[in-house]
Amino acid sequence: MKIKDNIADEFSEFSKNYTHDMIGCVPHYLKLMSCFTETLPKVFNPENILDLGCGNGNVTSKLLQIFPDANYTLLDASQEMLNLCQQQFKDYKIEYVTSYFQDHDFKTAGYDLIVAGFSLHHCDSEEKKVLFKEINRSLKKGGIFSCTDLMISKDSPKHSKLLEDWKVFVDSNFPDGKKWDWLMEHYNEFDKPDDFKDQIVWLQDAGFRNIEITTKEDYWMHLQAVKD
Ligand SMILES: C[S@@+](CC[C@H](N)C(=O)[O-])C[C@H]1O[C@@H](n2cnc3c(N)ncnc32)[C@H](O)[C@@H]1O
Repeated sequence: MKIKDNIADEFSEFSKNYTHDMIGCVPHYLKLMSCFTETLPKVFNPENILDLGCGNGNVTSKLLQIFPDANYTLLDASQEMLNLCQQQFKDYKIEYVTSYFQDHDFKTAGYDLIVAGFSLHHCDSEEKKVLFKEINRSLKKGGIFSCTDLMISKDSPKHSKLLEDWKVFVDSNFPDGKKWDWLMEHYNEFDKPDDFKDQIVWLQDAGFRNIEITTKEDYWMHLQAVKD
């Protein structure tokens, strides 16, 4: 598979075998998907939920199991990904938005829960800082931001070991090596992960409290934060 010129086209192509490829390419993908429901407070009943970079809907489908009556906004730059969501979520209250995060006009205090599954590493550090502020503004007081991602900087001395381990994992699922080659082309072009410690500082600066890494498998992580 050749990489595309922009993120929307890239994920429209990736959408064809998305979940299968994510399970085979992203260590701990299914465990980290479970965090979106398992780490929420016991008493929490969100009315409005925003899924940023929803992809084919794997995070939303988890949330629908426990919050079937909530109003959902699913945002993604890829129309093909949103089409896959539309096909499977016909019976729920869902608004679909085709947009880049950077162009989206975030509602003020519109949501009780904002989720982002493996989508924010496509933003660089400065974009993340702006986005964290927008996410904070868009949450109601006490609202929750919940996010899974690869959280290590490409400049980290630990990054080359991460790549070595990651290659072993991907090659164990796709032994001919072609998937790893494609993944690294995609990673070099589109992925801009940042260290979790930096992201915690940016979340604090954006007005979050109770920032917690709930799950850490190497640098594959789930993080949750509350709007002050
Ligand atoms: C790796 S997928 C994650 C999908 C899903 N959330 C999951 O956890 O499986 C990343 C998604 O984010 C979307 N995306 C990446 N950068 C984006 C941006 N700047 N604005 C909007 N969507 C973006 C891509 O189109 C893709 O569907």
